Amino acid sequence: MSFTLPPLPYAYDALQPYMSKETLEYHHDKHHQAYVTAGNNLLKDSGLEGKTLEEIVKESYGKNAGLFNNAGQHYNHSHFWPWLKPNGGGAAPGVVEKAIVDAFGSFEKFKEDFVQAGVTQFGSGWAWLVVKDGKLAVAKTPNGENPLVHGAVPVLGVDVWEHSYYIDYRNRRPDYLKAFLDHLVNWEYVEELYTKATA
Ligand SMILES: [Fe+2]
Repeated sequence: MSFTLPPLPYAYDALQPYMSKETLEYHHDKHHQAYVTAGNNLLKDSGLEGKTLEEIVKESYGKNAGLFNNAGQHYNHSHFWPWLKPNGGGAAPGVVEKAIVDAFGSFEKFKEDFVQAGVTQFGSGWAWLVVKDGKLAVAKTPNGENPLVHGAVPVLGVDVWEHSYYIDYRNRRPDYLKAFLDHLVNWEYVEELYTKATA
């Protein structure tokens, strides 16, 4: 396989005012494209050319740092775009909400834990809602790493690299994370991934 940049599933200005056209132009067209281009160059002669993206991420972890970083970021961003939608955020669909309450005690507690994971991820990285051992949990990873390499399946993730929020929020990462949960999350996509991960 080779990596290709998926188109944004909405217009560049569709997430305003919570994520600007300028942020999406840079983040999708420049940053994600750069991971795709570098990933394709590093995939050549890596021995992993015939594998799926998930397999490449898992099998390059700890062995081929350059390929892992770019393939990981390609995986993360390919899910990040559909994890966002205009007029998103707020309540989760019933099946996901029930699983969240079972795991965290309340939806509010999940939100607190998720924001806390994003705020405390030192430097660049991601905060996640994952399915591990059949149960939901919050996690965080540095740089391009993701929960796949820790035996978990990500069902929601938020990019906390500065390129994801600095144009719109400057240094206010907590405000970006709050806007993500309140106005941007595409819970239908989370439900789809959760259903697949727990089938
Ligand atoms: Fe990013």
